[in-house]
Amino acid sequence: MKKGRSFVLKGKLPLLTAIVMLTAVIMLMAGPALGAPPATENPCVACHLKTTPGLVADWQASLHSKNEVFCSNCHGEKHRNNKDSDLARLPDEHVCAECHEEQFDQFSRGKHNFGWSSMNALPITHMEPDLLMEGGKGCGGCHNMGIKSDAQKKDQLSKGYLYQNNSCDECHTRHAFSKKEAQDPRACQSCHMGYDHPQWEMWSSSKHGTRFFVKQAGKLPKKAAAPTCQLCHLPNGTHENRTAWGFLGVRLPLPDDKQWASDQVTILKALGVLNPETGKPTKRLEAVKAFDMARLTREAWKTERERMLKTCAACHSSRYARLQLDMADQMIETADRLMAQGIDIVAGLYKDGIIKKPDHYPFAYPDLLYFKQTGGSYIDQVLFRMYMKYRMRTYQGVFHANPDYAYWYGWAAMTKSLGEIKELARTMRAVHKIE
Ligand code: HEC
Ligand code: HEC
Ligand code: HEC
Ligand code: HEC
Ligand code: HEC
Ligand code: HEC
Ligand code: HEC
Ligand code: HEC
Repeated sequence: MKKGRSFVLKGKLPLLTAIVMLTAVIMLMAGPALGAPPATENPCVACHLKTTPGLVADWQASLHSKNEVFCSNCHGEKHRNNKDSDLARLPDEHVCAECHEEQFDQFSRGKHNFGWSSMNALPITHMEPDLLMEGGKGCGGCHNMGIKSDAQKKDQLSKGYLYQNNSCDECHTRHAFSKKEAQDPRACQSCHMGYDHPQWEMWSSSKHGTRFFVKQAGKLPKKAAAPTCQLCHLPNGTHENRTAWGFLGVRLPLPDDKQWASDQVTILKALGVLNPETGKPTKRLEAVKAFDMARLTREAWKTERERMLKTCAACHSSRYARLQLDMADQMIETADRLMAQGIDIVAGLYKDGIIKKPDHYPFAYPDLLYFKQTGGSYIDQVLFRMYMKYRMRTYQGVFHANPDYAYWYGWAAMTKSLGEIKELARTMRAVHKIE
């Protein structure tokens, strides 16, 4: 206001200029009423500055606030006072899609969109506490990735879990909704870590990650090459993600090598995807297909592989990169040899009646998808750990250029597990004979 007035006091202006100035002054003095109201006059913002100031500060710093995307754009206008906050809409991904259709469409086609459904496809999910699933305190905390169907939402709500309706706030969190945050590898850390997918640990202690942190500390030039998760997995800002081997490390058609193909069949039986007696597909194959858990054609696998190689080739020679990824494939093959031996030994115990088939198992055969709720015996637990923890680390470690994960936390632990399985089986057979 002050600024406007001092302008007029300069006086002696040609009439036209004076009129223009005067109009400007009137507009300025009339204040925000004529233009957009300042954010703090917005009733939602004004009250929430008192009730939830931390959250409003986030929103104020966001591009949403600068572009007049208000609380009500996402939460609706039904809730207006201190007593009716249950009327606020908790927005799902479709609300974001109203303004970000491109990202929504990309996300819909990618692997993240299957997080919720793939979790629910596992038998184990329905034996564990709801709190850890729909409540989001365990599996559901990371698998809240994917647009839920109406039935899935209803199921969650009926169990009293109100939140987690949105996947778009997983990498650029509410209410900052910041692109920069999502570009930082730490945005992936909370989920891609730990027991069976320690990509964060592997990447951050690899040469790639080391470079990133050294660069961040200002000790390498700004242009120094330091590949992030996003560079390799969400290149050029895409929201569609998928890898050639996926999480399970199986594919169709089976590998050309006979031994490897046979080992993968053994693994597929232990995953309950193939019937262990007939070798025919079971119902679980439907889920593998529906939720894109494995590439089902040679072309589909190759498309993802070539896409990745193109990324590597921005920094490495193509020959170098191809050889690295070929070696990672060989690591899967080598690990599968150990894995299949382990499965065969435990399967033998089921076959000879030394381990009784648990009621919830479809077959008298080890079932890795019951996770730690294997009904059989301790040896099943050892086998599960060998698969879920160590086999994963063996090849994930090679893919992420992390020698220690590939060897000590992966391969070496697999060989130890196999030794333990052999020892346990020997004892179990001896005890069975005496009994
Ligand atoms: C007069 C104060 C007031 C106004 C105005 C107000 N809110 Fe709220 N709002 C609250 C209070 C109080 C809560 C409950 C906070 C709590 O649980 O601690 C709340 C909760 C919420 C929640 C969370 C609901 C939940 O289930 O956790 C959302 C979202 C929300 N408000 C959005 C809005 C929007 C959008 C507007 C404007 C259309 C708005 N608020 C206007 C006071 C207000
Ligand atoms: C771009 C969309 C968007 C805007 C704008 C937005 N929110 Fe939200 N808000 C969300 C999403 C997404 C959630 C999480 C919903 C869930 O968990 O199901 C959320 C959750 C909330 C919650 C409950 C969860 C918590 O962390 O406490 C409150 C309260 C809330 N918003 C208040 C506000 C207020 C106040 C504003 C305006 C200053 C605002 N929101 C602006 C998208 C938005
Ligand atoms: C009413 C329209 C509208 C809705 C609804 C909306 N946005 Fe936005 N969003 C915008 C606008 C406008 C921008 C600024 C675009 C720009 O400047 O390029 C933006 C920017 C963004 C950015 C980039 C911020 C940055 O730092 O560059 C992200 C991320 C984002 N929105 C996420 C979301 C998410 C997640 C939701 C749903 C929870 C959502 N938006 C809902 C309009 C909307
Ligand atoms: C710390 C976060 C986190 C927790 C907790 C978690 N998951 Fe996952 N899950 C992931 C991530 C990340 C992936 C993808 C990993 C990869 O591809 O290497 C994944 C992959 C999967 C897949 C494979 C999807 C596919 O397409 O191959 C299934 C099924 C699954 N999880 C189910 C579960 C179940 C059931 C639980 C709980 C018993 C659980 N997860 C706990 C993060 C988590
Ligand atoms: C797996 C993490 C992740 C999830 C989940 C995610 N995003 Fe993003 N988003 C990113 C990354 C990374 C960027 C930065 C892309 C870049 O570098 O240009 C981004 C950028 C954006 C931008 C800014 C685009 C631009 O160029 O300014 C918008 C808008 C956006 N996301 C919307 C969404 C919406 C809508 C959803 C849900 C359907 C979503 N995002 C889910 C990681 C994610
Ligand atoms: C909220 C947890 C969460 C966050 C954050 C997250 N992811 Fe994921 N991600 C998952 C889950 C769960 C899956 C498995 C989805 C499924 O079941 O199909 C997955 C799958 C993937 C896959 C596909 C692997 C395959 O099967 O081919 C890639 C690649 C991936 N995420 C990369 C990223 C990157 C990069 C980021 C960070 C920008 C990120 N994710 C952030 C939970 C998360
Ligand atoms: C230099 C590139 C590169 C970087 C950086 C990178 N990855 Fe990967 N990632 C790969 C390759 C290569 C594969 C194996 C692809 C295939 O199946 O052919 C892979 C596989 C994956 C998978 C599928 C399961 C697995 O591990 O084999 C997930 C999930 C994943 N990466 C997440 C991440 C996350 C999260 C980060 C960051 C913490 C990250 N990656 C960093 C190249 C990279
Ligand atoms: C943005 C550039 C960049 C991209 C993209 C990239 N790398 Fe690297 N990579 C580097 C740099 C820089 C180093 C460190 C070189 C050194 O150790 O002297 C490195 C190191 C490595 C190493 C460890 C070599 C060693 O001597 O310890 C391997 C293996 C590797 N990269 C493989 C890959 C693969 C496979 C891909 C694609 C999936 C890839 N990289 C993508 C820049 C990149």
